[in-house]
Amino acid sequence: MTAPPATHPPPTGPHGTFGARNIVRFVRGQLPWLTALADEHGDVVRLKMLGKWWFLVSHPDDIERVLVKDARIMQRDAGVEIVRRFLGQGLLTSEGDVWKRQRKLKSQAFTPKRIAEYATAMVRVSDVVLRRWRDGATANVHQEMSQLTMEVVADVLFGASMSAADVDDVRGAMEIANEYLSGSPEAMLRFPRWVPTPRNVRTNGAVATLDRIVHGIIARRRTGEARDDLLGTLLAARDDDGAGMSDGQLRDEVMTLFLAGHETTSLALAHALYLLSENPDIAERLHAEVSSVLGDRLPTAEDARALPLADRVLKETMRLYPPAWATGRETTEPYELRGHPVPVGAQLICSQWVVHRDARWYPDPLRFDPDRWSPERAKDLPRFAYFPFGGGPRVCIGNHFAMMEATLLLAMIVQRFRVELLPGERLELAPAVTLRQKGDGLRVRTHARSAAH
Ligand code: HEM
Repeated sequence: MTAPPATHPPPTGPHGTFGARNIVRFVRGQLPWLTALADEHGDVVRLKMLGKWWFLVSHPDDIERVLVKDARIMQRDAGVEIVRRFLGQGLLTSEGDVWKRQRKLKSQAFTPKRIAEYATAMVRVSDVVLRRWRDGATANVHQEMSQLTMEVVADVLFGASMSAADVDDVRGAMEIANEYLSGSPEAMLRFPRWVPTPRNVRTNGAVATLDRIVHGIIARRRTGEARDDLLGTLLAARDDDGAGMSDGQLRDEVMTLFLAGHETTSLALAHALYLLSENPDIAERLHAEVSSVLGDRLPTAEDARALPLADRVLKETMRLYPPAWATGRETTEPYELRGHPVPVGAQLICSQWVVHRDARWYPDPLRFDPDRWSPERAKDLPRFAYFPFGGGPRVCIGNHFAMMEATLLLAMIVQRFRVELLPGERLELAPAVTLRQKGDGLRVRTHARSAAH
């Protein structure tokens, strides 16, 4: 399918021939800048950045075209090159036949049945971590959630194959990876790996640490007994010809799951706890729901379906603070958007941040209102007015995994604690690949709900 011919002139946008000024504006404050561009120029904005044409695409119908209907003539945007340094040719970073084969093999690890089985590990690991929380103690909510989701993903992926020291090393390496990916000059200007800036040297060290640990685990598992964790499913996965994944592919896929699977979910949880602390009435309603379903016991996969308010709180959190705040594509053929011509090689930005806060779809868009997601109120929303997990063939493969994990963990936290933001703490976003918090993270006080905690 080729796009219909363009009938309009190119869309308007901020000036700049090479786009150096635009990249400075972008790096200084992506979120307000993108919102202002959409407000000023409309649903399709054209701008130059670093010599390339970029298009900000903000109408849900166009986003559906880019991600779903015309997916065949789109590939990942140029930014993916930066992530390849860590993820090689994993699912997130590959294209064409490699991607197709890996997606099919990997899907075997994300069936509803497998996800329900992972739920047991999610709850077991979280129970151990939450038992360390104390009444009246202060905690850094971003760091706590990051540690929690890292331990969960390590356990679900590898079970007992990963030592506590390895988990610590991986966490340290992931921090360095995030620092590199958070708009560092080395990443933005694509410095080769051998250029010996301190950050480049640190990043090479982090990749070497991740390789050592992941290859070590794969080698042990190839020669040892079969296990029922996610890595076990990937090791056993076969395509139609009966072929499995090579060690190199497994390494890239495992790394992808670590990077894509832990920080996103941790941000969703941290922001949900922040919003609940700012909206105590909703926090109390959620506590009442969790108490009536769970009482004092641990949740199971089935319970996740019986917690509609928890689900709406998470949906509304990811509307306001989408962990993936922009999803990019590059055109591989001449294209058109709303009648405007779009050249081959253009970078299309579909920003969850911009669309999720658009008053045309969300009345009073800045208000935290989980009840927007009641079936009666949500039924008239255009399909791609909400797309925290992307859409189309490359929709997040961990979508249901993430919702299961976030629902169970949120329920366990709310069941045991009320979380209160410490005075003076403010949410200040510093978007990198994900929508991170500036600095260390928000500090909160945890109040136990009962003497048992
Ligand atoms: C709240 C949590 C999460 C959010 C918001 C999220 C968001 C996204 C988005 C927007 C994409 C699409 C990117 C694109 O089309 O360019 C994506 C892809 C992906 N996600 Fe997630 N994700 C989350 C959790 C997870 C988890 C838990 C896993 C794995 C355990 C995971 C693994 C992946 C992978 C492998 C891809 C690439 C899929 C492909 O290209 O075929 N994600 N995610």
